[in-house]
Amino acid sequence: MAHRWTNTLTHEDVTSERLFLNRRQVMAGAAAGFGMAGLGTQAAAEEALEPNSWEDITEYNNFYEFGTGKGDPAAYAEALTTDPWTVTIDGLVDRPGDYDFKDIMARMTVEERIYRFRCVEAWSMVIPWNGFELADLLEMAGVKAEAKFVRFETLYRPEEMRGQKYRTIDWPYVEGLRLDEALHPLTIMATGIYGKTIPNQNGAPMRLVVPWKYGFKSIKSIVKITLTDEEPINTWKALQASEYGFYANVNPEVDHPRWSQASERKIGGGLFSPRVPTLKFNGYEEEVASLYEGMDLRANF
Ligand code: MTE
Repeated sequence: MAHRWTNTLTHEDVTSERLFLNRRQVMAGAAAGFGMAGLGTQAAAEEALEPNSWEDITEYNNFYEFGTGKGDPAAYAEALTTDPWTVTIDGLVDRPGDYDFKDIMARMTVEERIYRFRCVEAWSMVIPWNGFELADLLEMAGVKAEAKFVRFETLYRPEEMRGQKYRTIDWPYVEGLRLDEALHPLTIMATGIYGKTIPNQNGAPMRLVVPWKYGFKSIKSIVKITLTDEEPINTWKALQASEYGFYANVNPEVDHPRWSQASERKIGGGLFSPRVPTLKFNGYEEEVASLYEGMDLRANF
């Protein structure tokens, strides 16, 4: 669609033989042409955007619908039927309805986005997603002027999602974004990884990715999207409001009550890999800080 995000790289850029040169060209191009990439962001992007392996990304997961262990999703998510798949879009939209996932895909432009991914548990990865901008999907449904938030819901199907037989959380998993966050061009619906269909354990057939927020905002296997004028109550906030907020912006200056958020452990680096400093808004400060101008990020964590 019309808005393309230029300050991101494609898989070819980071894996080609002339890796370093290519990266510099892409980043320099973005900086010169659009003035979006500041030097700090540029240096950080060059250093940190080495994608994790397929194994790292698909074997170390959080997807409580399949269990609370990091290996449970890879072990059990195969049981999930993802075709057919219907996404209900309702609430404050012009064209509410049940949209077939295949019809959605036929209308969306899928592109590659290599994003840092930072879990609230202080581990991180770099993931080469394939997906489309959430803004395009919302445009398809037609957002009414009164809408202020977007609420997302994951499938509830305990016969296929074995973790849902236990009340670890109040199913279905729910997340939410402010409308301007949802419409931001960095916000995508991911449908693939490394150019392959997204595996069930990563949220097939369609999951949210909001790269400047903690990973729990990136809700998986979405079946319902509701436009609303009220801030949605997200699952982790409902479970423990003193520890998990609605905004969940990555912020090294605001610690989790039980651990520091100043640094992170990069998955795949081996047992003795050093922790690396966490970047404000996960390194996307230039792009998203304006969304929160005048807001107390400590109170709105
Ligand atoms: N979505 C659903 N439906 N259920 C979950 O348990 N876990 C969240 C998020 N989305 C979760 C979810 C958390 S805590 C993280 S860190 C990411 O998914 C993990 O995504 P990944 O497994 O693809 O790395």
